[in-house]
Amino acid sequence: MDTVIILTSYLVLGLVVAFLFLNVVHQSTFLPPGPKGTFFSGVQHQLPKNEPWKKYAEWSKEFQSPVISFRVYNETVIVLNELKSVRDLLERRSHIYSDRPLSWMLSVICGRAKAIFNISSSDPRHRKYRQLFQTEVGERAMKRYWEMMREELRTMLDGLEKTPDEWQQHIIRNYASVIMRLTFGYKIHSLDDPFIQSTEETGKISGWATAPGRWLVNYYTILRFVPSFLPGTGWKRQGHAWRERLRTLSQIPHNWVKEQMAKGSYEPSFTSRLLQGDGDCVSNISTEEEDIIQWCAGGLYAGATHTTISALTSFVLLMALHPQVQQKAQREIDLVFNQNQQSGFIDTPDLARLPMLKYLTVVMKEVLRFAPVGNLALPHRLVVDDEYMGFRLPRGATVIPNIWAIMHDPELYPDPFVFSPERFAMDDQPDPRQFAYGFGRRSCPGSHFAETTILLAMAGILARFHIDSKEKGFEGRAVVTPQNVEFTTGLTSHIKPFPIHITPRKFDS
Ligand code: HEM
Repeated sequence: MDTVIILTSYLVLGLVVAFLFLNVVHQSTFLPPGPKGTFFSGVQHQLPKNEPWKKYAEWSKEFQSPVISFRVYNETVIVLNELKSVRDLLERRSHIYSDRPLSWMLSVICGRAKAIFNISSSDPRHRKYRQLFQTEVGERAMKRYWEMMREELRTMLDGLEKTPDEWQQHIIRNYASVIMRLTFGYKIHSLDDPFIQSTEETGKISGWATAPGRWLVNYYTILRFVPSFLPGTGWKRQGHAWRERLRTLSQIPHNWVKEQMAKGSYEPSFTSRLLQGDGDCVSNISTEEEDIIQWCAGGLYAGATHTTISALTSFVLLMALHPQVQQKAQREIDLVFNQNQQSGFIDTPDLARLPMLKYLTVVMKEVLRFAPVGNLALPHRLVVDDEYMGFRLPRGATVIPNIWAIMHDPELYPDPFVFSPERFAMDDQPDPRQFAYGFGRRSCPGSHFAETTILLAMAGILARFHIDSKEKGFEGRAVVTPQNVEFTTGLTSHIKPFPIHITPRKFDS
């Protein structure tokens, strides 16, 4: 009897192993080439914590294919390492490549499925969110924010003059305040502001909940049914705690706006305008509409702050390393804003004149190319089986555009690791803004707002200050030169800060 049980167990085990093996073999047939990894976790342990975009570019070279694939647990990941495949798939076939992978931990267990970044493209809300972004932060909406942005810029420039060594904090406060005022009519005076703390906490929890490979439930979704009282299910209890915390955090600024509106004293904002609907009081809108406003408001802060801060941080550091570029930009700013020895420093640049800053605009393009803010954009999800270059691209695969690889492709940008705004003078190198903001139906809806605020801040800083690099290295690091700058890693990235001097300009220089 015992022998029968043992033999049957071996047989069942054998069948299970054979099934899993055949499944993996089938999954990998005709997929784009790439590293194989281990049977259970795929390449999970080969994925570097830092700058994974460089590893993907390396694999692309090693496997001699711009489109590569690999497996992380049971998830098929496809990385597009050059422009052509990104255009062919994410843009020309955007109707099937615009969904987002479902992160069970973040979207379901932590309740963030309705956030604009995570929501499925087939959910009618996605279109509504995008329309709201278009009307609230699209090109035509910019006028509404001009005065507020200038006021915040003035505060930043005064801060830079008083405490130049705290330049990063001034930049962060500036963008946090611009976006908080735009979204909630709430002004930020310092970085320990409770609203900043709560939105930053939201970002941190979302980051932990999406850490690649950390939550097995993202790959083996059956685990979501495991009761949370069982041993080894701490992750589930953690997810539920985060869900509550995230809900509370997102209500704080929203409820604050409603309280201010009830008192009748508030700065008009995205939230207050939409809460009023067609009438003039909050009660006129439905719960569904209010929910949409709240999710979009959260998306505004999350999408706008770290991205714009990263771009401006890289800009300041690059100016310290490239004095000639800085001088050329300053000459243009002085000319466009009539800033000279007689008139002295301008107050803050006039937004209507920003488009006249042609050279500064190419400097911005080169900052976005040399130090991409989002090196891997956000992952897309393929919704039906597809075929490309003779490869099978399976339904459900996660598709990642390697923006870093495109921005550093020598075919598109000769000497890609050299910072040179002059490369755009000839007009034969593509405008990196076409790639910096992602692709297809998921491309960044805040790009116009981003560029206006970044260009304004760049102009304001260079109009009033001179930036240069301190001679010595620090903390044992070598002196930073244009050739050895380092970058931070993460969803957004920027040049790692090194010591710089920011001093008021002498006008006859
Ligand atoms: C330099 C500044 C910025 C850069 C480089 C940038 C880049 C990106 C990228 C690469 C994506 C992913 C696109 C894709 O999946 O293909 C994205 C999405 C998004 N960005 Fe931005 N962004 C910037 C500023 C902003 C600003 C200022 C806002 C808000 C005002 C914003 C809001 C969003 C939102 C809501 C999404 C998600 C869109 C969706 O999933 O439908 N971004 N951005």
